[in-house]
Amino acid sequence: MHPWLAFTSLILLWTDAVVSQVQVSGVVGQPVTLPCTYSTASEVTTMCWGRGGCPRSVCSDQLIWTDGYRVTFQKNMRYELNGIIPKGNVSLTIKNAQQSDSGTYCCRIEHSGWFNDKKVNILLEIKPAPPKTTSVPTSPRVSTSAPTTPATTLNLTTGKEMCF
Ligand SMILES: *[C@@H]1O[C@H](CO)[C@@H](O)[C@H](O)[C@H]1NC(C)=O
Ligand SMILES: *[C@@H]1O[C@H](CO)[C@@H](O)[C@H](O)[C@H]1NC(C)=O
Repeated sequence: MHPWLAFTSLILLWTDAVVSQVQVSGVVGQPVTLPCTYSTASEVTTMCWGRGGCPRSVCSDQLIWTDGYRVTFQKNMRYELNGIIPKGNVSLTIKNAQQSDSGTYCCRIEHSGWFNDKKVNILLEIKPAPPKTTSVPTSPRVSTSAPTTPATTLNLTTGKEMCF
């Protein structure tokens, strides 16, 4: 595993040991879809999307609501549910993503009964649009090329030991 990846997942484990978290990334100016689905076998139900982690009930900073069939509240037009809602695809699409959209989102599916709600926290990262220039591939890319990364190999082992 790439040492940088190891480090990031370590931080994630550190800050979010309890709730399972999904990571999604997007690009400024593009739409981005945060996946969330549920099984409609037992019931088609209400759900909300909010910013911030899922609170004890409903959603904080509510962005969109559905009654299970159609959108019943929309904070603004950038937030859409483009999946087949009655089939349980309540994935959230944010149009024209901005870097300020980065952060945690909560998908909460309200199942009847106490503590039955399905809660998914999604960590969204919006990256700047890549520059138009095609020269000098400076950015480290996750690629299928040879693992022999020259020159800039950071020795993270020492750093890790210092921190933890
Ligand atoms: C759910 O809908 C989104 C569009 O909002 C689509 O991209 C995605 O593939 C759908 N997911 C499933 C599991 O059908
Ligand atoms: C990185 O650390 C390892 C052992 O932790 C050491 O053997 C190696 O020489 C170090 N590499 C550099 C470039 O400092």
